[in-house]
Amino acid sequence: MCGIVGYIGPKEAYPILIKGLKRLEYRGYDSAGVALLNGDLTILKKEGKVSDLEMHAEGKNKTGTVGIGHTRWATHGVPSDLNAHPHVSNSAQLAIIHNGIIENYASLKTELVKRGYTFKSDTDTEVLMNLIEDIKKEEEVDIEEALRIALNEVVGAYAIVVIDKANPDKIIAARKGSPLVIGIGDKEFYVASDASPIVEFTKEVVYLNDEEFAVLHRNGDMEIKDLGNITKTPYIQKLEMDLETIEKGGYDTFMLKEIYEQPKVIGDALRGRMNAKEGWIKLGGVSEFATRINNAERLIIGACGTSWHSGLIAEYVIEELARVPVEVEYASEFRYRNPIVTSKDVMIAISQSGETADTLAAIEIAKERQALIFGICNVIGSSISRVSHAGAYTHAGPEIGVASTKAFSTQVAILMLMALQLAQKKGSISASRLRQILYELEEIPKKIEEALTLNDEIERIAAKYFEAENFLYLGRGINFPVALEGALKLKEISYIHAEGYPAAEMKHGPIALIDENMPVLFIATNKSAHEKIVSNIQEVKARKGKVIAVINHADEVIEGLADDVIRVPETEELLSPLVSIVPLQLLSYHIALMRNCNVDQPRNLAKSVTVE
Ligand code: G6P
Repeated sequence: MCGIVGYIGPKEAYPILIKGLKRLEYRGYDSAGVALLNGDLTILKKEGKVSDLEMHAEGKNKTGTVGIGHTRWATHGVPSDLNAHPHVSNSAQLAIIHNGIIENYASLKTELVKRGYTFKSDTDTEVLMNLIEDIKKEEEVDIEEALRIALNEVVGAYAIVVIDKANPDKIIAARKGSPLVIGIGDKEFYVASDASPIVEFTKEVVYLNDEEFAVLHRNGDMEIKDLGNITKTPYIQKLEMDLETIEKGGYDTFMLKEIYEQPKVIGDALRGRMNAKEGWIKLGGVSEFATRINNAERLIIGACGTSWHSGLIAEYVIEELARVPVEVEYASEFRYRNPIVTSKDVMIAISQSGETADTLAAIEIAKERQALIFGICNVIGSSISRVSHAGAYTHAGPEIGVASTKAFSTQVAILMLMALQLAQKKGSISASRLRQILYELEEIPKKIEEALTLNDEIERIAAKYFEAENFLYLGRGINFPVALEGALKLKEISYIHAEGYPAAEMKHGPIALIDENMPVLFIATNKSAHEKIVSNIQEVKARKGKVIAVINHADEVIEGLADDVIRVPETEELLSPLVSIVPLQLLSYHIALMRNCNVDQPRNLAKSVTVE
């Protein structure tokens, strides 16, 4: 949430900051701003998108070889020019950008007001800025020491970058709970929330750890210390990201590109980790801990949003194949009760970004209670991947569209591999069944390709329903989480109210909503519950509801009943979510476009939710 970027070096900072902000815009996009040091401190900020900021900056002084930039997702205070970052200290000497929340900002603000400080915005960030200024003046210390003392006083999460008009040859960055990466160039440094603004300039990066701050000097020196003032040795890593993976590559939107990337990235996620012919699966992280995981009293899956839905699919798959009990928890709820977790439990934390604050907090609780933590993340080097004892990356590549698509399908593929590996180790699956599923898994990228060829047909269906005000998504068994995910996609990007339900639960409530204006989408690919699904479709039709059904090839019964059918290729039932989710992603995409919605940056949402 909120994207931050900073630069110090020989180049002009403004173009680097603007380009970086555009890459980070998926993190928040209600306002944007930059601060530049050029003898003076120039602040340019504007409510709206980065493009609005660019317009606002036209004709103004944008020079300076040191600067910071921010794209905001509002927490404290409405989106406005005043609440946009950077925030400046009362003396107009210091400027800050911040991602996160300072929880004790109110009491700090009261103290600062008593001491004569005034505030232009409603933000917690401006409070932190003036706290640093106050310490700097009162204690007569340099900017980094003032920042260190201030950060010892604040409660909350932050990634911040600070610049000082009196010290134009350094920038200071710090983090706790919100990501921050430093790119190292030739006598220049980049700082950003993720590597996407950095990748075209350098592949050498340092991921700052929690409660560390970095002082980056124009002469190329870098000092990293923790908040106790102990010097740390930077661990320089090589970025594996390519520039083209973060560009649209000919597609109109990132979301469409990412939907179409699914066959490839599932192939990437599986490569080297399984072989159907030879009958083996090898997820590095699982191999080491397979016995512990198989003997766990429970596997607790902790996740949020779409990742929670892949957790629900995993519950079906792991229990079916490996016969280990699974519970799937909203990380955001888990942390606010007093959950029973012991050293015999294993937590599987699933997160695309690896930064979701609630998931991190759930991990912390499970870890305190001695559970083993297995992280499934997409972003390499992310916080969750670092705090986990073991894990597997999904290798979906950067996902930039706010609504998750390819990250979801790679999570499901990895969880499938995990279930199979555990089952093989435990002996709860026969060699022939294992091979059969592995062969089917190898075929999945092709079957997704085939599902993607339905795009035009789905666009036609979208044209029939895009004005609906409500939508119901129903599925049984493993298709129930698919229904949840399909409904989430639609509400996220088209703002149509959509609910996912287990088809059998329809009669306990949602059936009351059905009339001729209610489209009901059935995911009806399961062979095991086919007759029951057919009965549910009959029940909707009897009440004049409109039925769209996702079916396998040649399902005459449902074709005879439904208003519209989407025929996806058949696969092993446990793998079917990987194929049946594709038309649901495309349907929400086309409906959103027809409603003139911004599919990549839907209102109010953010890709990486680093606040609680
Ligand atoms: C946000 C995103 C969702 C995502 C959820 C969990 O709400 O908009 O797309 O599913 O966070 O994020 P994570 O990075 O932990 O998977």
